[in-house]
Amino acid sequence: MALEQHSAEMALAQAAAKAAGTLLLEYQQSGFTIREKRTSDLVSEADIASEKLILDQIRARFPDHTILAEESRTELQAGDVPEHLWIVDPLDGTTNFAHGIPHFAVSIAYYRQGIAECGVVFNPARNDWYVAARGAGAWYQAERLQVGPQQSLTDCLVGLGFYYDRGAMMEATLATIHQLFKTGIHGVRRFGTASLDLAHVARGFYGVYFEYQLSPWDFAAGRLLVEEAGGKVTTARGDALPLKTGSVLASNTSLHSRMLEIIQQTAGDFFS
Ligand code: IPD
Ligand code: CA
Ligand code: CA
Repeated sequence: MALEQHSAEMALAQAAAKAAGTLLLEYQQSGFTIREKRTSDLVSEADIASEKLILDQIRARFPDHTILAEESRTELQAGDVPEHLWIVDPLDGTTNFAHGIPHFAVSIAYYRQGIAECGVVFNPARNDWYVAARGAGAWYQAERLQVGPQQSLTDCLVGLGFYYDRGAMMEATLATIHQLFKTGIHGVRRFGTASLDLAHVARGFYGVYFEYQLSPWDFAAGRLLVEEAGGKVTTARGDALPLKTGSVLASNTSLHSRMLEIIQQTAGDFFS
């Protein structure tokens, strides 16, 4: 793992992600119960146990820090910018996990005064580590990451995701995909783990990734990976990305403005 000695927060994020990842693999072997939070939105006992383990570790080390975590349903109030904030997705890609697909992750980010300081995205099934620290780069294992060189959408794969909504948001996403195919992209990929999708932009696999609704725990660590690898992350309208639920567009920077045009053309009504 890179950056292990970078800061106390980074060391804790990596230790907690490793322990949570080990726990998730144990659940996969021994079996777990699962239920739907709402249609198609799954949560398993592994999600809950992983979150408890991570939060216990953060609270033991940094008792006065604020934590935003998916299964605790914590939310920041408007205008609230904690001095120290942890943002945790204890199991990103629960649907993959539930179906036995080894593509899921633990995502942990630490923000100070609203600015991402460090982030970890760990896929325990492959022992894949993605880490980033502000000003110190983004890393896959021991390799420093750099976004891809694609200058045109016709040179790239586009990663994307669908939120659980099967209505207007799905239609808007499909309209964008339709237009992307017409522009001649190499293809789209929907692997089902937003934090790893962002890691794939940082690693140069995707020139672009977009999703029309994500929560902070889905993107908090992955956005730092992209930014530290030289890419750009905004909302789908091109605005600075706030720490609240909404759209996300990540790219290698070169493709950002062209992608914003396509989103405006195909899903502009959705964001007006
Ligand atoms: C989901 C995954 C998925 C994305 C969804 C997320 P979860 O997170 O990241 O790729 O398309 O929008 O909610 O529910 O598996 O933690
Ligand atoms: Ca998630
Ligand atoms: Ca989750």
